[in-house]
Amino acid sequence: MSYPFAMAFAHNGARPKLSVLGTGYLGATHAVAMVELGYDVVGLDVDEAKVARLSAGDVPFFEPGLPELLRKALDSGRLRFTTSYQDVADFADVHFICVGTPQRKDGYAADLTYVESAFSTLAPLLDRRALVVGKSTVPAGTARRMSDLVTSLAPSEEVEVAWNPEFLREGFAVEDTLHPDRLVFGVQSAAAEQTLRDAFAPVIASGTPVVVTDFSTAELVKVAANSFLATKISFINAMAEVCEVVHADVTALSEALGYDSRIGKRFLHAGLGFGGGCLPKDIRAFMARAEELGAQDALAFLEEVDAINMRRRARAIDLGRELLDGDYAGKRVCVWGAAFKPNSDDIRDSPALDVAAAAQKLGAAVIVYDPEAMENAKRIYPQLAMASSALEAARNADVLLLLTEWAEFRETDPAMLASVVAAPRIVDGRNALDPATWRAAGWTYRALGRP
Ligand code: UDX
Repeated sequence: MSYPFAMAFAHNGARPKLSVLGTGYLGATHAVAMVELGYDVVGLDVDEAKVARLSAGDVPFFEPGLPELLRKALDSGRLRFTTSYQDVADFADVHFICVGTPQRKDGYAADLTYVESAFSTLAPLLDRRALVVGKSTVPAGTARRMSDLVTSLAPSEEVEVAWNPEFLREGFAVEDTLHPDRLVFGVQSAAAEQTLRDAFAPVIASGTPVVVTDFSTAELVKVAANSFLATKISFINAMAEVCEVVHADVTALSEALGYDSRIGKRFLHAGLGFGGGCLPKDIRAFMARAEELGAQDALAFLEEVDAINMRRRARAIDLGRELLDGDYAGKRVCVWGAAFKPNSDDIRDSPALDVAAAAQKLGAAVIVYDPEAMENAKRIYPQLAMASSALEAARNADVLLLLTEWAEFRETDPAMLASVVAAPRIVDGRNALDPATWRAAGWTYRALGRP
């Protein structure tokens, strides 16, 4: 097989011009970070309102550091946003596809509608040399399919596809994009590799390792990494279940395990478990794809990882019920936290809101507070009452459920809070508080995996 993509852009002595298709968490951050690194970038989104907000310097989601960098990038004159595919096709040498791949409504598999739409809309407009780089998290085999699609649709023969998975964490998106742990390039030719090296030249120059591989491996790196992280969290949460039975303390267990450098302490924090737009749907999509490929046995353990994770939510509900003498009906329940993790306003698959909604279904009057995620929570859970501050939510509560470990909650004075609630009872769903301090302040304290 020969590849027409004969010459990398660096050989022309110029940095490639970049486009970013899809300006959500991943795409907006990538676009801004690439401008920060010195590239000319145009960002495309099909959502006109989003394009208008970004063009005005307004980031439509909460991400520390990004608003400042967005305004700086716009001021530099090297970043703009558009809804026009033609504009993007004319402008850029390298196109990054950053659209979402949510879980399908009818099952575990990933919904590839947006990926397919981005590739198939862009390709027919590519009448010049270009590299189309998928960054979205996709099932193995997608890159090959998109490559065939682009080859069949693009008027130019000098168009190639590559895959470059993204590992950024929400809350650290800028840092993770500017200083990633590694770059993974799934390519079919040395020229495509060189173009990606040109497109990430400053990141590589700062010492970031590059793994160059085939399409399938590049696709797998991302889902394998997220599966490993999810497994590590569910492992410690399974230990928390055992701790509950033998009256042991999972936080001390985790600390002791973490000192073993082979294990490491990160992602070993027991609590309500993982949520968000990536981990839950990625492990499910991975299982679905493995089943299609006849490799389901290899990933059977992920079913258990998922089940352990969901059991933690049920256990948090149970602990609240125990504190309420067996019944939620008619009780006032304060929920601290709506985002799936602190320093984010993302409520996708949020364990906190899942638990809040479940308590309400059981007859409680639930009132939620989150420092950043209130707007999103209101939109998706209009049935839940929302307070405008942590204290207001706690006022007259029969039980307080701490479900997202924002610093504001961790730093609350338990004695002061005890004077506001109807009864000082707390479920620390994130093992975020010091039990001795809270008990000394008069609280009945319960946590997941702790006596
Ligand atoms: C994750 C991956 O970390 C990132 O590499 C990938 O690109 C996208 O998915 P993110 O979704 O931003 O990033 O969240 P992350 O920080 O990984 O946390 C995931 C969930 O796990 C959160 O709900 C968090 O509360 C939970 N978690 C994390 C734990 O319960 N315990 C831990 O020890 C760590």
